[in-house]
Amino acid sequence: MAGPLPQPGILEISPYVGGESKVPGFDKPARLASNENPLGPSPKAAEAYARAAAELHRYPDGGATAIRAAIGAHYNLDPARIVCGTGSDELFALLASSYAGEGDEVLYSAHGFLAYPIVARSAGATPVTAAEKNLRTDVDALLAAVTQRTRIIFLANPNNPTGSYLSTGEIARLLNGLPQSVLLILDAAYAEYVDREDYSAGHHWVDQYPNVVVTHTFSKIYALGSARLGWAYCPPAIAGVLNRVRQPFNVNAPAMEAGIAALADGEHFANSKAHNDRWRPWLEEKLTELGFTVHPSVANFLLVSFKPYDAEAVRLFAKSRGVLIRQMGSYGLPDCLRITIGTEDELKQLVAAIEAFLFQNEPHVPK
Ligand SMILES: Cc1ncc(COP(=O)(O)O)c(C=O)c1O
Repeated sequence: MAGPLPQPGILEISPYVGGESKVPGFDKPARLASNENPLGPSPKAAEAYARAAAELHRYPDGGATAIRAAIGAHYNLDPARIVCGTGSDELFALLASSYAGEGDEVLYSAHGFLAYPIVARSAGATPVTAAEKNLRTDVDALLAAVTQRTRIIFLANPNNPTGSYLSTGEIARLLNGLPQSVLLILDAAYAEYVDREDYSAGHHWVDQYPNVVVTHTFSKIYALGSARLGWAYCPPAIAGVLNRVRQPFNVNAPAMEAGIAALADGEHFANSKAHNDRWRPWLEEKLTELGFTVHPSVANFLLVSFKPYDAEAVRLFAKSRGVLIRQMGSYGLPDCLRITIGTEDELKQLVAAIEAFLFQNEPHVPK
C-alpha cells in the first residue's frame, strides 16, 4: 500500500541537522557547534523559569501580553505589533506559509540560514538563492533574482554561518529596489552582538514600509535556546496575519517568564556581550596565526576555512578531544568549519586540539 502522500515539495526538504551535543567518553564536551551563549542563562531567568513550573497545569497567556510589553519597553517598540513564537523558526514558518505557496519563490542569499529553504518548501514554494560576494550577501544579486513570482526574501543580518552583515545603506538600497508586494524578513538573531555604526536591526524600516518584518530570538545572547522563544516586529497587517495563523498558545509560560527576567538582567547581558567582544578577536588571532582564513564576523561565531587541510578531519580530530564544532558541507562550504565563541577554557581546548592536529597531519592534497 502506498499510504498518504505529503504535499508537493515536502519530500524535497533535507531535514535540518543541528549541531552535535554529545561525545562518547566526555561528560561535558566543549559545545561550540550551535552558537549558544557559553555563559549559560541569566540566573534570574532560570529562577523565573523554575518558578513557572508550579503553574504548569495552567494554559499560558495566549496573547503573550507581559512578554510583548517587556520586549516593547526594552526595544522601544509598540507591543501591539510584536508577535511571539516558539523560537524565531516558528515565525519563519508561519510567515512563509502565510505569504508564499505553490508556484511562488522564496529568495535568500547563497549561504543564508538553512531554515529558510525548509520553511519555503514546507509552504509549497520554491527556494531560490542569490550569489554572494566574498561570503557577503550581495544586494544587487538579490535584486536581480527577484521575479514576478518572488513573495519573500529572508535576510539574516548578521548572517549565519558567514558572520558578515549588511550596512543600513545596503539594506536601504535593497528596499528601494524591491516591490512592496515582496516581504523582506530581516532575521536579527545575532543583532545584539553587533556594534557597528552602520548596522541596525532595522526596526525603523518596519515603521516605514508595509513589507518589512524584523525577527529576533531569545536563543542567542539571552541564552534561552531550550525555552524556544522568538519574536517578530511587524507592520500592523502582518501582525494581524500572524495572530490569525499561529496556534492559540504557541509560546509556553515558563519561556515567557524566563524571557521577561532575561530582558531585565542587564548585567548578564553586558557580561555576555563583553565575553564575546574579548574572545572572538582572541580566537580570530590564534587561528590566523596558525595559517587559516578567518572570515570577518560581527556575531558570536567564526567561519574558518581550513584549506589546505581537510576540514572534516579537523572537526573529527577536535571531536575526539571532546570539542564540538560545526561542519559546513550542508552550507556548500566543505572547506570551512563554524566555531562558536565558547568559554575561555573551551576555546583554549579547541586551539590546543587544532595545534595537535597540525602537528600530526599533512595538508590535504586533493587527488
Ligand atoms: C540566523 C538565525 N536565525 C534564527 C535562528 C533560530 O532562532 P530560534 O532559536 O529563535 O528559532 C538561528 C539559530 O541558529 C539563526 O542562526
